[in-house]
Amino acid sequence: MSLNKFSRTLTQEITNPAAKAMLYGIGLTSEDMNKAQIGIASTGYEGNPCNMHLNGLSVHVKKGIQENGMVGLIFHTIGVSDGMTNGNDGMSYSLPSRDIIADSIENVVGAQWYDGVIAVVGCDKNMPGAMMALARLNRPGMLVYGGTIRSGTYKGEKLDIVSAFEALGKKYAGTISDEDYEGVIRNSIPGAGACGGMYTANTMASSMEAMGLVLPNSSSYPATHEGKKEECLAIGAAMKVLLEKNICPRDIMNRHAFENAMTVVMALGGSTNAVLHYLAIAHSAGVSFTMKDIQDISDRTPLIADLKPSGKYYMEDVLAIGGMPAILKYLWQKGFLHGECLTVTGKTMAENLAEAPDLNFDTQKIIYPIEQPLKPTGHIQILYGNLATEGAVAKITGKEGERFEGLAKVCNREEEVMEYLSKGEIKAGHVVVIRNEGPKGGPGMPEMLKPTSALMGAGLGNSVAMITDGRFSGGTHGFVVGHVTPEAFDGGNIGLVQDGDKITIDAVENKIILHVSDEELAERRKLWKPIVSPHTSGVLRKYIKNVASASLGCVTDL
Ligand code: FES
Repeated sequence: MSLNKFSRTLTQEITNPAAKAMLYGIGLTSEDMNKAQIGIASTGYEGNPCNMHLNGLSVHVKKGIQENGMVGLIFHTIGVSDGMTNGNDGMSYSLPSRDIIADSIENVVGAQWYDGVIAVVGCDKNMPGAMMALARLNRPGMLVYGGTIRSGTYKGEKLDIVSAFEALGKKYAGTISDEDYEGVIRNSIPGAGACGGMYTANTMASSMEAMGLVLPNSSSYPATHEGKKEECLAIGAAMKVLLEKNICPRDIMNRHAFENAMTVVMALGGSTNAVLHYLAIAHSAGVSFTMKDIQDISDRTPLIADLKPSGKYYMEDVLAIGGMPAILKYLWQKGFLHGECLTVTGKTMAENLAEAPDLNFDTQKIIYPIEQPLKPTGHIQILYGNLATEGAVAKITGKEGERFEGLAKVCNREEEVMEYLSKGEIKAGHVVVIRNEGPKGGPGMPEMLKPTSALMGAGLGNSVAMITDGRFSGGTHGFVVGHVTPEAFDGGNIGLVQDGDKITIDAVENKIILHVSDEELAERRKLWKPIVSPHTSGVLRKYIKNVASASLGCVTDL
């Protein structure tokens, strides 16, 4: 095999005999010295179902690499469990972990001069972090998704991670027994794999398949399916093609590929976090892709998937209807995807999809026909107004209506929602405003899954709206608006809202309005002070100093 332009082996032979000696020291042979070296970045760790099996998958990837005449060298990067950190201070570390993953992969591959890189990823922030690294490095590479979890069951009902949070809301509302509460908690997570609905992990996995950065079906093989192992073993042959043709990530991650990715997010009812992540990934790839572009895609893309959180089915059900390739093929045939985009198979999207099965609309119920969608346009709407002059992101599937007008119930921290809810102070007609939870104020722009799930569980999901400068989990459903920018910490008007203020959220006109005069807001601003952050050193301090607005993807390298 010819080495690509990043060949480190030849360079080291001339300039760095110590490196060559060290490579012999790790067990490489003379023959290995002329092979391409592939860094395999595993986000595996034992403490999270999404990541617990990834080190094992990385070993299969390495085997496939070795069998195809290259040297595979596994290294590790970090991960944070979004499920476990939701609702506690640990959530502040979740979004920063995306950028640490990107930085660490870039750092290792840049330093070690690997010819290519493969990232084995599982939980929410793993995928965008690794994609950012691939785009920055621009050396041949791809990702392998660890796969979705199987659903759990209790008393005949299918369960997942959101069931556990919603059980808490039912507990507050007194509509679940202690025994059933414990039963739901014990049975929601049956083993390895990422959270099972079209939440953030499966959203990013599906859309990165649409972007062409994984082998076909990577997003639809469950973690424990035999196909996942086969995919890992097949990576070696694909990597060889990328090296021989010198196909680099930026050859794949062009403007049309970003449009393909975001189209799939819209069509499948994916997570609002995809907005943040694709803005950040585009920044890493040097592609112009903005909130306006995302709104344009939303305007032209119907929501056609009956998947959780707002729908009925799990990601594990997708494989049975033909997997992600069948869905992509349908969207492509209907003119929603750019088929000419290059992928990590070395072929175009259209060439890959020629071999994909067709969706059978007589038998499958997950994907609706384009002509009879669940919603004619995308569920993600970018809103502007005096509450969000730089934009906010709403997730409106239509089930909850498209317009909400109500009175503000202000929570200066996420914890106050739970406090007010347990006291019965949040009532139908309220717009719950959760502030000081932005990228800097949170810090880390925490997800509000616990309050939204608790509201759902308390039976208020259809009668209460929620807005925040924080984020929402991919598991969130209900009338919710997040990513409000500027955030309260930066002086955004969300910091000036008072209990009882009237707020209008209009997902048709794309507006979010606080019905308070400019004069009154100016008076309130005179008394306003930003919160004092307790983070005076360490990683969160660095994050607060470097992070950009959510409207720019919360990147840390502007
Ligand atoms: Fe990892 Fe949900 S906690 S995907």
